[in-house]
Amino acid sequence: ARALRVALAGCGVVGGGVLPRLLADARFEVVGVLVRDPTRARDTPIPAGLAVSDPAALLAREPDILIEAISDASTGLALIRAALTRGVDVVSANKQAVGADLPALIELAAAGEARLLYSASVGGGAALIETVRRARAYGTVVRIEAVLNGTCNFILNRLAEGRPFGEALIAARDAGFAEADPSADLTGLDAAAKLAILGHEALRGRLAADGVTRQTLASDSVLPAGRVRQLARLDVRTGEVSVALRAVDGDPLFVDLADEWNALRVTTGDGRVFTARGRGAGRAPTAESVWADLTDLAELRANAKENAAGSREPAALESP
Ligand code: NDP
Ligand code: HSE
Repeated sequence: ARALRVALAGCGVVGGGVLPRLLADARFEVVGVLVRDPTRARDTPIPAGLAVSDPAALLAREPDILIEAISDASTGLALIRAALTRGVDVVSANKQAVGADLPALIELAAAGEARLLYSASVGGGAALIETVRRARAYGTVVRIEAVLNGTCNFILNRLAEGRPFGEALIAARDAGFAEADPSADLTGLDAAAKLAILGHEALRGRLAADGVTRQTLASDSVLPAGRVRQLARLDVRTGEVSVALRAVDGDPLFVDLADEWNALRVTTGDGRVFTARGRGAGRAPTAESVWADLTDLAELRANAKENAAGSREPAALESP
């Protein structure tokens, strides 16, 4: 089989974790890498001839698959739309782009006979989307509670140790957990986009990220007493859809949540409870999720080809 042509958008924390693996795997051929500044020195060097700074130039290289991991929501969304419209399969880590209007993107993918996978957009390396899908397969989801932002979790843990806010934020940035603009983490925008994606997975309805009420974590925040988390909550029965700083004492799922970890609890109408925890941010776990989506796509494409070959009319037997 020929190698799949892969275009990579973004070569920062996430894209820079995916690129070396792509280059080393004969199943894939990297046809282009989109960055803002192709001349900049980076920890993951981009091989000569691959770097472009214009999204249209990336798609002009006719990829089979686009991996979208850029830090700009509107450029990311436009690129995903353009790719799906052309029938290019997409793997995205960009929750602000995917969460902006997931149902519309899914419709676009169906119309373009393309696939859209986005497991890295929520939970980094933790299987949060997959857990919501599993819950939904069992029953009607009535409640989601989750820690969805690794940066805030990291900062809140350090504040609990008495360390200063500014130092904790710098450490979260240096570790690659924070967004390019960390105000998205601190104001709950990042968690709201993730909750919108999980809400869509749970309810198959349109849940706008801008309809999520949010509370900001700042250096002068007055926090509740006890162990505090930035907790996202969607409650179908009460209508609450929020991201807020809450005390979680007595709730073992959320209390001992180290560093950049995320955690999720999904409850169905008949009382079943599904949980997941894992590393929610950073290069390695996120690149692993992108890679899992990419290899799923490669297998789906191979199976589709095999099925198409199998469904052809059998060759006529020669008469004896
Ligand atoms: P970085 O800031 O490390 O990297 C962003 C990359 O996008 C850079 O290569 C940058 O180019 C490129 N870029 C940004 N804007 C444009 C643009 N307008 N045109 C072309 N290229 C552009 O971000 P991350 O790798 O951390 O995050 C990437 C995406 O993945 C984001 O959507 C983020 O929310 C998501 N994500 C991040 C996680 C993490 O832990 N960091 C985890 C899960 C998802 P240049 O290098 O030239 O500046
Ligand atoms: N900035 C995000 C976080 C990255 O801290 O959770 C993972 O989506």
